[in-house]
Amino acid sequence: MGKILVTGGTGFIGSHACVSLINAGYSVVVVDNLCNSKVEALARIQLITGKQVRFYQADLRDEESIRQIFIDNKIDAVMHFAGLKAVGESVEKPLQYYENNIGGTVSLLRVMAKQKCHTIIFSSSATVYGCQNPVPYQEEMPVSATNPYGYTKVMIEQILRDVCKSDPRFSAVALRYFNPIGAHESGLLGENPNGIPNNLVPYIAQVASGKLDHVNIYGNDYNTPDGTGVRDYIHVMDLADGHTAALAYGMEHSGFTAVNLGTGTGSSVLEVIRAYEKACGRTIPIEITKRRAGDIAASYADAAKAKELLGWQAVSGLEKMCADSWRFTVQNPNGME
Ligand code: NAD
Ligand code: UFG
Repeated sequence: MGKILVTGGTGFIGSHACVSLINAGYSVVVVDNLCNSKVEALARIQLITGKQVRFYQADLRDEESIRQIFIDNKIDAVMHFAGLKAVGESVEKPLQYYENNIGGTVSLLRVMAKQKCHTIIFSSSATVYGCQNPVPYQEEMPVSATNPYGYTKVMIEQILRDVCKSDPRFSAVALRYFNPIGAHESGLLGENPNGIPNNLVPYIAQVASGKLDHVNIYGNDYNTPDGTGVRDYIHVMDLADGHTAALAYGMEHSGFTAVNLGTGTGSSVLEVIRAYEKACGRTIPIEITKRRAGDIAASYADAAKAKELLGWQAVSGLEKMCADSWRFTVQNPNGME
């Protein structure tokens, strides 16, 4: 079927994408510098799929190491997940974010061009819709950002557009993720946040398991049905399968394409907490606190383009997302060690 280089493949989304790719018949090579993940993810991928993944511990900015990976393996296409992703940290350490995310991508693209590999699937984010566009977000809307992390996504999309314009053999699909949550249903693979989680569902999981005592709800005075923030939560395996569909598309088409990967449905913070309570059979204590700086009221996708272009749509609902998150939490009390 083809050999795919997965950058950031030991991370949360990349590891699930490896499972989807292997299930679809691809062989997978992973490169990761392990700055935010553990090599154990590879053992879990092997347990789930029965297939071994070739692994290189390297930084994307180390062009010589990346070049060697392409020389050792005949890579047909790249799925590019590697990057730093904490919004708050990006405000404190902007140069680290620009250097890592943009520098890493530029090195990767330079090596790809030299090695005549012209297909890339990139992890973009719904954050590129900024705070001015109305929901549901559509791919043609203007992009912008409110923090350095978001700007790295806007800039990398532009770099990909420009590379495709300069060389008609290039094909780049920027997948704009909404809010990926959940875990592989085996309970073997999931999200492994360091320290106290920033994101809602990993935080709820730690409250449910007794590590934290309550969930702070960041505002209940938004212009939404119950006043709490609304987001488009998508099961990480649905998201992973969306990548496999985008890869098939990218291999057949050239040029730059941006596609939303969301369910098209928004859920409020309170709805997520209720669904999680149902999944774990426990009460999740809550406290209403003030709004978190930089948050918007609602974000959800228009998911039509993904269906039309990629023939893909999300299938799992909030209940399954929470049930799978909870299974992973129970089976891995200290994360993936
Ligand atoms: P993650 O941190 O779990 O995975 C990213 C991986 O990249 C990690 O394993 C890390 O070690 C690796 N990495 C970082 N910089 C590297 C470098 N210079 N060289 C080699 N490896 C490097 O994050 P994730 O949640 O799996 O996110 C994957 C991608 O999806 C990121 O680009 C992220 O910005 C994007 N994204 C994530 C979300 C989300 O909510 N999780 C939403 C939108 C977009
Ligand atoms: N929330 C709480 N309490 C918490 C954490 C979150 O009430 O402890 C609320 C937030 O206010 C928001 C919702 O839960 O309404 C979801 O918050 P997350 O932090 O889980 O997700 P965000 O939508 O804020 O952020 C995500 C990604 C970012 C990305 C952003 C915009 O994590 O990387 O979407 O696309 F930049």
